[in-house]
Amino acid sequence: MNFKIKTNDSNICIKTIRETKDLLEEIKVLDPKVALVDKSISENYPFIFDEFKNLDIDIFAITDPETEKNLETLEKGYYFLQKNNVQRTDFILAIGGGATTDFAGFLASTFKRGIKLCLMPTTLLGQVDACIGGKTAINFGNIKNLVGSFYNPSEIIICTEFLNTLGEQEYLTGISEIIKHALITSDDEISFVLENIENIKMRDQIVLEEIISRSISIKHNVVNEDFTEKGRRKFLNFGHTFGHGIESSNLKKPMLHGHAVAIGMMMALKYSSELNFIEASNYEMVSNLIKRLGYDFSEVSLNSNAIYASMKSDKKNTEKDSISLILLKNVGEPFIYNENDGSKLLEFLERFIKDFE
Ligand SMILES: NC(=O)c1ccc[n+]([C@@H]2O[C@H](COP(=O)([O-])OP(=O)(O)OC[C@H]3O[C@@H](n4cnc5c(N)ncnc54)[C@H](O)[C@@H]3O)[C@@H](O)[C@H]2O)c1
Repeated sequence: MNFKIKTNDSNICIKTIRETKDLLEEIKVLDPKVALVDKSISENYPFIFDEFKNLDIDIFAITDPETEKNLETLEKGYYFLQKNNVQRTDFILAIGGGATTDFAGFLASTFKRGIKLCLMPTTLLGQVDACIGGKTAINFGNIKNLVGSFYNPSEIIICTEFLNTLGEQEYLTGISEIIKHALITSDDEISFVLENIENIKMRDQIVLEEIISRSISIKHNVVNEDFTEKGRRKFLNFGHTFGHGIESSNLKKPMLHGHAVAIGMMMALKYSSELNFIEASNYEMVSNLIKRLGYDFSEVSLNSNAIYASMKSDKKNTEKDSISLILLKNVGEPFIYNENDGSKLLEFLERFIKDFE
């Protein structure tokens, strides 16, 4: 499947491919000068790297992507590009999950004030979320994504076969973003997820190609209207305000982001229904979906006070003494709700956690 998405200042060509063997032709056409590669990909798909050697493409290997998404690796990256005499018109190719593509995006955006970039995301989260929207970043100090830029790649190549080697829970963390995109868009989108649940679980390549393309288009349309997150882009935080609270109450044993978002979406739907914005059946529908998909929440600890404290200090809150939540009036109708009554929210969290456990 080939499609183009238009950003404010350029076009991004997106290609979806089912088999990794077909990537070789794409790489030849692209003719990148260098490639930044997540090591798990070079281990799982060694034939791609034999091709890099044949084409004389130098490789910058990333062994532990989230840990190496930092200033030290960035400096090594600049030396690597300089050594390879990379010019602004040369392509650099990034192959890996969201941490690798975020890092590569920041590197590309800052080297010589911006060089051409092709992303080949290899995790589901990377394919439906991190590669779209132009946000690039590295972590700094203990803060995730503190230093970054807005910079779009000119090409994105999605290969669904890469998803076959992802662990079950790593795969589900990407499904959370697909569910989120569907819920903030329309009944049709969430129905497509529900109708295809067995195929999604089996990682059926045809259904994955379709669902990934839909999810990309949804995120792109939202971002395109609001690149710098002043309005509609905030709706992409559906489930995330609660989710960040859940993540920060699990810092001792970090959990997968998508798992926090899955619980966060259930919380947001239940709260929306308790405030009489949406029918309670929507909460039941999403919690059944999440249950059927097989998320493992056994190691997750939910502490209402810690979640509430983190939500209260969220930098995305817009009004003093209130917490900005993205709630739903209906499937496809997200809106910003500023909760001023902290004790009501805290009491809700306590009840939700009791029922959830
Ligand atoms: N820029 C954005 O808009 C945006 C949006 C969401 C998330 N992110 C960022 O994305 C990152 C999370 O992305 P992620 O979940 O892809 O994490 P990740 O890149 O750390 O990858 C997760 C793990 O999967 C491995 N892996 C990658 N592809 C694989 C494959 N095909 N088979 C087997 N293993 C594979 C990696 O080596 C890693 O161990 C975070 O750094 C987050 O900040 C960015």
